[in-house]
Amino acid sequence: MISIKNNNMVKKINIAIDGYSSCGKSTIAKSLAEILHYIYIDTGAMYRAITYFALKEKIIFNGHIHVEKLIQSLPDIFISFEFNENTKNADVILNGVNIEKEIRTMEVAQMVSKISEIKEVREKLVSLQQKIAEQKGVVMDGRDIGSVVLPDAEIKLFMTADQKVRTKRRYKELLEKGINVSEVEVYNNILERDTNDVNRKESPLIQTDDAVILDNTYLTIEEQLEFVVNLVNKAVTH
Ligand code: DC
Repeated sequence: MISIKNNNMVKKINIAIDGYSSCGKSTIAKSLAEILHYIYIDTGAMYRAITYFALKEKIIFNGHIHVEKLIQSLPDIFISFEFNENTKNADVILNGVNIEKEIRTMEVAQMVSKISEIKEVREKLVSLQQKIAEQKGVVMDGRDIGSVVLPDAEIKLFMTADQKVRTKRRYKELLEKGINVSEVEVYNNILERDTNDVNRKESPLIQTDDAVILDNTYLTIEEQLEFVVNLVNKAVTH
């Protein structure tokens, strides 16, 4: 039984979770937030929301991003989250519309890491993310959370898993969502996004010195949660 030393007097902390694409960050972050009664913020969903906006407004056309136009449009983009009681997910809201399903398509996945390379996009989202985490009690996942967004987070996790295992998990997830895609496409997309995320100029994915590595290739969700909750118990009582 996973439990948190729960009394209302324990201090609230921030938890930063970074790692490669499709290695189960959001599964752990979401469950952890539920156990702790914290807020879960999926920052990848925010980059996906901007990508979706750009596709819808034809700012991305035939795979080409009109960067200047996107930068000009940034003030018109309002992103928030709304807790979905049915799925227990924090759904992304773009300018008042729930776009949780739309941001999970391969079309968005294929463009999102290019959009996330744009400095102005990152500045806008990082500032929003930092504002959300000001009050503490946040579990945030992404690529630059421990390094840039919340460098003072009390717990930093760096998650990783074997790429074949990640592909199988993501492929299954997409099929369950009714998204038609081949396993090879998923594999290539993950590989491409990881390469972009690690090598980009703006806030690349890095493992900070103070991050704890969690390789979940052979771990169940329960085992991972037990590991992280132990870290939280230590952090809130010291
Ligand atoms: O976590 P995800 O796969 O939904 O993220 C989508 C993309 O957004 C990913 O390819 C990299 C980018 N991203 C980022 O650059 N910084 C973050 N904090 C989160 C995601």
